Amino acid sequence: MEKTIEQIHREALEEIESARDAEDVKSISIKYLGRKGAVTQFLRNVSNLPAQIRPEAGKKANETKKDLDALFKKTLMHLESSSRETDDRIDVSLPGRVTPRGSLHPITQINQKICDIFIRLGFDVAEGPEVETDYYNFEALNIPQNHPARDMQDTFYISNAIVLRTHTSPTQPRIMEKQRPPVRIVAPGKVYRCDSDLTHTPMFHQVEGLLVDRNISFGDLKGILTTFVHQMFDPETGLRFRPSYFPFTEPSAEVDIRCVICKGSGCRVCSNTGWLEVLGSGMVHPAVFENVGYDTTRYSGFAFGMGVERIAMLKYGIDDIRKYFENDLRFLRQF
Ligand code: DAH
Repeated sequence: MEKTIEQIHREALEEIESARDAEDVKSISIKYLGRKGAVTQFLRNVSNLPAQIRPEAGKKANETKKDLDALFKKTLMHLESSSRETDDRIDVSLPGRVTPRGSLHPITQINQKICDIFIRLGFDVAEGPEVETDYYNFEALNIPQNHPARDMQDTFYISNAIVLRTHTSPTQPRIMEKQRPPVRIVAPGKVYRCDSDLTHTPMFHQVEGLLVDRNISFGDLKGILTTFVHQMFDPETGLRFRPSYFPFTEPSAEVDIRCVICKGSGCRVCSNTGWLEVLGSGMVHPAVFENVGYDTTRYSGFAFGMGVERIAMLKYGIDDIRKYFENDLRFLRQF
């Protein structure tokens, strides 16, 4: 027997009751109100019904159609707005998005560490220009024209009288011209030399040191630099002061530390000597004091200079200086 319109209506209400999402509602809507839907078919067949029930059945079917149509639309709207609410809800268990943070370049870190050690020993930090006059880079430091020491440093010339500083030593006369003793400074910065291989880059960093006061002796130089080496490397690090030559210091000494790789037994890094050179130093030459108007009978002092990349290479056991400037994040992230 054909289903009555009441039966169809009831079934539709049951189905919509158990609909889980908008898709369900849409297919139920098609099942009942679509072109071949149950209500639609019923309406189409009303004309075939016996005449006495035809008007009543037609009226009921139209009401059912209107009623279901409104219900489907309402249910659909409700489901769609509540699913939107779910999408907008904050999931507090979701891991946060990490913003990558930069870090200090290893050369910057070592540079700061060197300066920190001297700051704790009572030194101030000073700076000088990277584009320097021939006067401060050479003349004031007792390196006159045609002095053989000029060949030791492959200078980049801007003009006859202007150079890219080849070392941080020109900060010495610059400071002393402006300041009376006592002077106690370190001067970090970039320096330039026309040189490039496994252990040299055209730009590198140095830290200069200068201490001038009354009664400063070579013993003070040894004490300060020994303290520095022990704080920079290991408190047990062996070191030695080896006689050397610099035009702006007399006497001059280079400081060597026990090889950090072989501990002194001899290896490739220390060329089998067991020692590694870490810095240059000496008592300030009287000619340098005279150039800045310091009274050499009253004051004495010592100076030193070191390469930051060299210290970093020794500390981290890296044999190719160029690694520091290639900006390979896999290398830099290790520090
Ligand atoms: N300026 C020297 C260089 O670049 C290093 C140096 C040696 C600096 C002795 C000094 C010093 O202050 O006393 O090789």
